[in-house]
Order: sequence, then C-alpha cells, then structure tokens
Amino acid sequence: MKLADNKATLSFSNGNAPIELPVYSGNIGPDVVDIRKLYAQTGMFTYDPGFLSTASCQSAITYIDGDKGELLYRGYPIEQLATNCDFLETCHLLLYGNLPDVAAKADFTKRVANHTMVNEQMQFFLRGFRRDAHPMAIMTGLVGALSAFYHDSTDINNPEHREISAIRLIAKMPTLVAMAYKYSIGQPFMYPKNNLSYSGNFLHMMFATPCEDYKVNPVIERALDRIFVLHADHEQNASTSTVRLCGSSGTNPFAAIAAGVACLWGPAHGGANEACLNMLEEIQASGGISKVGEFMEKVKDKNSGVKLMGFGHRVYKNYDPRAKMMQETCDEVLAALGLENDPLFKLAKALEKIALEDDYFVSRKLYPNVDFYSGIVQRAIGIPVKLFTGIFALARTVGWIAQLNEMISDPEYKIGRPRQLFTGSPRRDVVAIAKR
Ligand code: CMC
Repeated sequence: MKLADNKATLSFSNGNAPIELPVYSGNIGPDVVDIRKLYAQTGMFTYDPGFLSTASCQSAITYIDGDKGELLYRGYPIEQLATNCDFLETCHLLLYGNLPDVAAKADFTKRVANHTMVNEQMQFFLRGFRRDAHPMAIMTGLVGALSAFYHDSTDINNPEHREISAIRLIAKMPTLVAMAYKYSIGQPFMYPKNNLSYSGNFLHMMFATPCEDYKVNPVIERALDRIFVLHADHEQNASTSTVRLCGSSGTNPFAAIAAGVACLWGPAHGGANEACLNMLEEIQASGGISKVGEFMEKVKDKNSGVKLMGFGHRVYKNYDPRAKMMQETCDEVLAALGLENDPLFKLAKALEKIALEDDYFVSRKLYPNVDFYSGIVQRAIGIPVKLFTGIFALARTVGWIAQLNEMISDPEYKIGRPRQLFTGSPRRDVVAIAKR
C-alpha cells in the first residue's frame, strides 16, 4: 500500500482541534483512511458494525469490483480461470500468487495427493456423531480435530508448518466431506484414489462402493471442478474474516479453518445454497411456477421474514460473475444428464426473470449470487442438499488458508481486537440477594 496524494481531515464541532489522517491507495479499488492513531489522538473509536466501510486488512489475493460485477483471483478474471484452469491450478495461484507451469502443477498435484488419506483413527472420532447429524456440524468437529491428529503442523508462526497444514487441509477436505456423507447413509468409507483428478477422486469417495467399479463421468467431474474454482476465495467475507480473526490469536491453522467452517454454515453466507434449494423445492411442492407471483409478494413484504435465497450480495451490486458461470454449468450438466426439463431449473429461471424486472429488486440492486444455481447443479450431480455447504467449505478452504498465511506473513499483523460503543449500565453496586 502506498500513501495517497491527499490526506483526510477530521474536524469536530465541539472546538477540539481537527486531526489529519493519512490516506493509502491500493493498486485498484477504493482508497482507505488510516484511523489507527485516531483513539490515541482523540479518545474516540470509529463505529462500523457489519464493516460497511471498513477495510480490515491489506490483501493481494482477491479483488472484487461489485459495481462492475468483476471478480479477480491474483488479477485473473474468474471467467478465464473457470474456463481454462482446474481447481488445483487455482489453489496454486491463490496460495503462491502464480499459475503453475506443467512441472509445477505436477509437483503440486503430487504433494496434495500424498496427503489425501486421513489418520485411520479419525473414522472412530466420526463414528461418535449421530448418523443424522448435519454434515456441517460434523465438518466443524472433524476439521478442528485435525489439530489433534497432525501435531507436526500446528505452529502457525512456523512457515514450514503453515505450508504442510495448507497442503493437508486442501488434500483432506474432500476425504472428510465424503466420509461425513458415507456415514450418514451407512455405507463404508472409500479410501482416496490418487490416480484420479481432485474432483474425480471426490466423486469416487462419494459415490463408489467396494462392491462395484465406479467410472467418473467427465462432464460431472468438470462441473464439480468448476464449482470448486468459483468458490475458492472471495476476499474478506464473513468466514474468511472469521479465519483471520481466529488465527490472529496465534491458534493453529486447523482450529482457525474450523472457525471458518462454522461461520460459513449460516444461511446468509454459505448455507444459502442449501436454503435456496429448499426454497425452490417448497415453491415446487406448493404448485410450482404458478405460485411464483405469490411467493414474490411474500419476499417483498418486510413482515413475512421471507427472503429470496441466492439473491443479493453485500459487495455485488451488479450480476455476480460466479452466478453467470454457474448458470452455464447448470445448462451443461442438465443437458449431459438428460435433465433439460428439470422443473427446479425452470422454476429458478422464472424466479430470476421476475426478480430482475421487479422494482423491489432493481432498486436495491439485488441479483442472483453464486448460490442461486449451484444447488441445482449439485442436486443433478447427486449431491444431497444437506451436503451443499460442505462442498462450499471444501472449495473455500484454500482461500481461507491463503488469507490466513498472508495475514501471518504481514509485518503489520496484530491480534484482532475490535472495540465497542458501550450502551449498558454504568458502574453500580451489588445489592444483597434478600434486598433485590
Ligand atoms: N431477498 C429479499 N430482499 C433482500 C434480499 C433477498 N435475498 N437481500 C437483500 N434484500 C433487501 C434487504 O431487505 C434490504 O432492504 P431494505 O433496504 O428495504 O431494508 C436491502 O435489500 C439491502 O439488503 P441488506 O440486508 O442490507 O444487504 P446486506 O449486504 O446486509 O446482505 C446478504 C447481503 C447476502 C446477506 C443478503 O442479500 C441476503 O440475505 N441474501 C440471501 C442469502 C444469500 O443468498 N446469501 C448468499 C450470499 S453469496 C454467497 C456467500 O458469500 O456466502
């Protein structure tokens, strides 16, 4: 970051002297006003719940231009990455800053493949969960538990530990998600097959059984890989900020990523894909396209508490570029599987069309986000609805680690410690219980 030409001046109406605040520029995007000395100079904090105007860090990983609907990983547009690169290339890019050449890709793929198995003891840990536990409950537990199994990569201040934990997490997340699924349906766990691609191996662990040969469908493999690429990072969203804040205490990487998994679960964030599909299924069950108008009236009624899931975004005030790619993938997958007339896909398109023409959505700049179509693709692939957010967590893990490692390597890194505007009772004395 570099000092901008201008400075900000903060003045007060109570006669206190104005103060000057430095302004910094990034390479693209809005400048930031540096308020770090504000409290020392004025005794005041800034107030920004929800971080509407606050840059919590400097980062060189992902850039979003919400007005243009643009998403760049290390400068590369998401459309180009989703079309020309696979997920492991994208992981390399996010972690190390550059796209690998053929040799570097082979080396990285081999390093990841070396770590796809999990400690055999982990399945006994997993067996402690109820079979009907939500996969995200299991994932939060399993990812946190990795720190109990891999003691040699838990020192966040050691670059080698950070590197090995990064590779381990990327390699083991598909194994853990697939184990959570197999456990829920009572089938044996399938060990990873390292001669398959990253997404091919995941499909194998999900859908193969020891009884029969399983052949990976290349259309599904590519679609899943694209889902992973589209979800790999998204700058300082809620779960990434959670990972950074959690990691800022110096806790181990597995614990910090487990915090990210927990945050992602919520329906306003990663849980929206599950909530979106449930919403589509409910509308379908209540009468389908003929009921869309009625449903939209509920969405627009503030008192109903109903939201159009998969719509709206804090940063995108134009079409989410990931949603465009996801809609394309949806078309491809449904055609390849002979599901062109999938009623939920038709319903989603009808909802989108109405929303994009309705003043409620237009005036609030609400567009489909990545979750609007991803559930339909995943459902067509055969992934159960409850596992959708687990797939998101699997894909986002690389982004979380890249952001965590960037934070730890930043010389300006400090433990995160927000302040508050206190609105509770001033000091008071405890009254003896008999007299209260
Ligand atoms: N349906 C109906 N109204 C909406 C929606 C929606 N999906 N999203 C926002 N609004 C309204 C909201 O009620 C508010 O109206 P008003 O100005 O009259 O009070 C206005 O639009 C602005 O919304 P906001 O809640 O102030 O925006 P935010 O930036 O705080 O929230 C959001 C962003 C993603 C949480 C929200 O749009 C939402 O809840 N969407 C549905 C859940 C969803 O799809 N989440 C996935 C996000 S993308 C994947 C990810 O990052 O995890």
